[in-house]
Amino acid sequence: MKINDATLLALLPELGVEHEASVSLAEMTSLGIGGVTDLFLIRRDASIPELIRQLDLRAIRHRFLGGGSNLLVADGELPFVVLQLAKPEPDVVIEGNVATIAAAADLGRTVTFCAKQGLGGMEGLIGVPGTVGGALRMNAGAYGIQIGSYVREVRLYRAATRSIETLRDAQISFEYRHTSFEPDDMMLTVKLELPPKPYDEILKGIRICNEKRRSSQPLGQKSAGCIFKNPPGGSAGRMIDELGLKGLSVGDARVSDRHANFFVNAGHASAADMLSLIADVRERVRAAYGVTLENEVVVWSA
Ligand code: EPU
Repeated sequence: MKINDATLLALLPELGVEHEASVSLAEMTSLGIGGVTDLFLIRRDASIPELIRQLDLRAIRHRFLGGGSNLLVADGELPFVVLQLAKPEPDVVIEGNVATIAAAADLGRTVTFCAKQGLGGMEGLIGVPGTVGGALRMNAGAYGIQIGSYVREVRLYRAATRSIETLRDAQISFEYRHTSFEPDDMMLTVKLELPPKPYDEILKGIRICNEKRRSSQPLGQKSAGCIFKNPPGGSAGRMIDELGLKGLSVGDARVSDRHANFFVNAGHASAADMLSLIADVRERVRAAYGVTLENEVVVWSA
């Protein structure tokens, strides 16, 4: 979607928003798949309600982009613009055992930064790609840890009220790869309360998780992490593997040879290829096990 509305574009500087025309989402997502649209980079998050009001006035649809690491975007010219938060400096501030983190902060770097300040708990998240906001949105987890367990407070743009709010305690709930946030909400800042631990001990945990991840996941290839959520009590990866589907391909979209719940872009896969592979594998698992796998990857269709 191309934005040529001169009145809208003229408003952006005073809102602290930069406009980038014709951005390729294939270059902004870890899968390397996705079409083209205009991007609004937000440097002042307090402007979000006004920015969205201006877009709505013109019937311009929008989507919020985090780190693009759990996302499958449709091909071609996209019928919506993309809003992304710029990373402020500093992006993490620590007081006692509470870290206040900007949503645009890189998750891995945040885990390391907190570790250096003697705050642990997030060792398992070290290799999870993407931003803190994205991890929070879906309650990312690995190796027995979920980011939601440490959340004390979240400042976010809430689509329902079209305003910026702060939520805490029972106002937010976190479950396995699921949160009470709405799809159109945008995470802005989070306060995490982290257990104090000696740096050496945290580092040991980080190294163990890194090693486990390296030995079981296709880290060097373009992917969105696990494609499906694990069904209650089961493992999507194990089921897909047991059906002999590693290497199954549609065009360049391919079930990883290393971990069957990772689908990789082995070259120039299109969104259509990847969606067709996902549908095929879901159907084969349903036929064999009677289980309908739910997407973990977020799909932005056209
Ligand atoms: N397995 C196979 N074949 C495979 C893959 C896995 O037999 O191709 C078996 C493993 O041997 C193991 C079991 O399935 O016995 C579980 O595998 P793994 O330990 O790799 O964990 P997972 O359930 O497949 C989950 C998360 C990962 C996270 C790891 C480590 C989900 C959907 N996936 O994977 O998260 O990194 O545990 O904690 O919950 C992600 O969310 O994108 C993701 C990669």
